[in-house]
Amino acid sequence: MAVGSGRGALIILEGLDRSGKTTQCKKLLESLRSHQHKVKLIKFPDRTTETGKMIDSYLKQNMKIDDRAIHLLFSANRWEKRLEMLKDLEQGITLIVDRYAFSGVAFSSAKKGLELEWCKCPDRGLPKPDLVIFLNVSSSDAASRGGYGEERYENTEFQKTVANNFKRMWDEWKVIDAGGSIDDVHQTILNYVKSTMQSVDDKPIGELWI
Ligand code: TMP
Repeated sequence: MAVGSGRGALIILEGLDRSGKTTQCKKLLESLRSHQHKVKLIKFPDRTTETGKMIDSYLKQNMKIDDRAIHLLFSANRWEKRLEMLKDLEQGITLIVDRYAFSGVAFSSAKKGLELEWCKCPDRGLPKPDLVIFLNVSSSDAASRGGYGEERYENTEFQKTVANNFKRMWDEWKVIDAGGSIDDVHQTILNYVKSTMQSVDDKPIGELWI
């Protein structure tokens, strides 16, 4: 594949907490870079911005925020990156994104009274992914991986509801069994990503849920 032709691809990795997303995102970045592809890794929530600092404080249970208000903050945290993302994609940079609007919807709609359709609204119009990869791991396996339980949302009951919510959105995604070895999972991801990068060419960047 020619390096640097056409626009970059928008690749999202989603999954439950402790599904191995972050490890896989880093391996993907290294692998594509080693083949001279222009690629960047971004992560939501981006905890460095002003909205991100509030989200961080909320997740670490230092601050209470109304369920709908925190949902909108997570969404704002993505919107503030939109122009930068579009610019990168247009300049041929492939973006690997660790969580996106799908996490926003799956986690928020696991709370009482927040409908999935309502949760989608604030993210409508964000850059549309060219590929969504979902790392599928059972909520009990995820719980047995390290560090679980330190942040808000990291409990098995809640994660089960989140998993069901993800399933309600995953028809067009590549769902990968994340229980395999790190290298096998990486290879599967890499194959999907490479074929997506070849297919985007100069196709216009879509708008999510429109
Ligand atoms: P992280 O562990 O990947 O940094 O994600 C932080 C937590 O925030 C994780 O439990 C998923 C949750 N989350 C939301 O509730 N809404 C969102 O929009 C995003 C991106 C993450």
